[in-house]
Amino acid sequence: MKNQNHLKYAFVMLPVLLAACSGGGETKQEAKQEESAQASASPEGAAGPREIVVEEGGSIQAAVNEAKSGDTIIVKPGVYKQSVYIDKPNITLRGLRDGDRWAVLDGETVKNDGIIASGHSTVIDGFYVKGYKGNGIMTQGANNFQILNNHVEGAFYGIFPQYGRNGLVKGNTVTGSEDAGIYVGMSDNIDVLENVAYGNVMGLEFENTRNALMARNHIYGNASGIALTIVPGLPVKDAYSQVIKDNKIEKNNIENFAPSSSIAAGVPSGVGIIVVGPDDITIENNEIAGNDNVGVLVTDLLTFGLSNDPKVDPYSDGIKIMKNTWRDNGDNLSGMLGGMIAAASRSGVEILSMGKDRDSCLLAEDGVDALGVDQWTACDPSMTKATFDTAMIKDGAEEPVYSPEQKGRLTYLAVCTGCHAYDSVLHGPSVESIKALYADNPEGLVQYAANPVRKREDFPEMPAQSYLGDDVLTQIADYILYDLGE
Ligand code: HEC
Repeated sequence: MKNQNHLKYAFVMLPVLLAACSGGGETKQEAKQEESAQASASPEGAAGPREIVVEEGGSIQAAVNEAKSGDTIIVKPGVYKQSVYIDKPNITLRGLRDGDRWAVLDGETVKNDGIIASGHSTVIDGFYVKGYKGNGIMTQGANNFQILNNHVEGAFYGIFPQYGRNGLVKGNTVTGSEDAGIYVGMSDNIDVLENVAYGNVMGLEFENTRNALMARNHIYGNASGIALTIVPGLPVKDAYSQVIKDNKIEKNNIENFAPSSSIAAGVPSGVGIIVVGPDDITIENNEIAGNDNVGVLVTDLLTFGLSNDPKVDPYSDGIKIMKNTWRDNGDNLSGMLGGMIAAASRSGVEILSMGKDRDSCLLAEDGVDALGVDQWTACDPSMTKATFDTAMIKDGAEEPVYSPEQKGRLTYLAVCTGCHAYDSVLHGPSVESIKALYADNPEGLVQYAANPVRKREDFPEMPAQSYLGDDVLTQIADYILYDLGE
């Protein structure tokens, strides 16, 4: 095997391409026929945006491959056992719904990703996505995206916009994620509105994200409702200006079922909102009820047990908690967090500050029972964000076109850093250790990323990244080995 690396790689690509281009058990020939049928069904040489219709059982990827900027792909109700990768800008992918019959993307618990988009101005609307091991719906380095009205069930991350600017996540339902149902990572100017999240480890999360709004979501029955975090070792070193308002956050008490090797495994259950490290956060006019350990927990990276990153300020500063409705929080203490609250001879705690924070405030209202907030001041009512209704950029974000080198760097940031931090373990080994393993062997790194094999017993499997293509993976390998340093 060792001397046949090229061959091995070529064979690896085949099944993946087939999986991407066709429904479940089809042969290569059938997939090809389908693709040509698709192409001839659409008007040749027509000017302006087109609609491309995917009939039940057809290939969504073939339609994406054929589509041009501005086109809309309509997917009829039915089950599609496929992964879809959108790597061009301005494509709308819309699932049609007929009562209970959705356009269903089914990963059958073997495929890694449902829909991945790296093109700017992608719209993903109306899909029922289930059975994927990694991401239900993910954007990677894409700006001006919209993820609307989808139902995502049982992925590691349900909906995961990563490293993007100016995006809307609205009207989706997410359940069963082993990490966050909706996970906004390293992004700017994002609105998360009117979604429903239940049965996830974390319902909604902003991680290393700046200027973002979560409003009018219903978040119930997760281990923790909302997580506002900064994770060390990532290329984005801060998280700030987030408004969390008008949400209903209740009964987030299920057991944490994240894999024990992941950071999410450390998230306590029985918490409405957990704040670990970001700054300038407004939590206003939410209904926070029935969370067994505490309504809102404010802590810092060090207290949470995350490694220190000299470029990251580990403290949650400027937390403003105003005008929320509180009911029945902290009434049923359990786990380590519950033990700590009980040890302070308390229960029924609505707000708990643990560790260090600066410049935080609380608008004292009837019934707010807080612990550890001695250094907090009273919020000035003029700080209200009651009329703040979007964090998005009015005229949209720029849509840069990237050179191959930039594309490599960006894809590294958007994809690999989701699991690999520079000098600590996130889901996979540190990038530092990868650099040492593959010094001057970019081909080896490309091959591993395209076709990972199990190496470390105590880590999860790494999902194949072959959908990114050989060229992008080569750029990523060059970036990691020759340009990247912390
Ligand atoms: C969903 C999480 C995830 C993503 C995304 C991911 N990795 Fe990994 N990676 C892992 C895990 C987990 C391991 C450890 C697997 C093992 O040892 O069995 C790993 C291991 C590796 C290794 C070590 C190989 C070795 O020989 O020990 C390399 C190289 C690597 N990943 C490269 C990449 C690159 C490049 C990307 C981006 C294109 C990437 N990974 C994206 C999770 C991920």
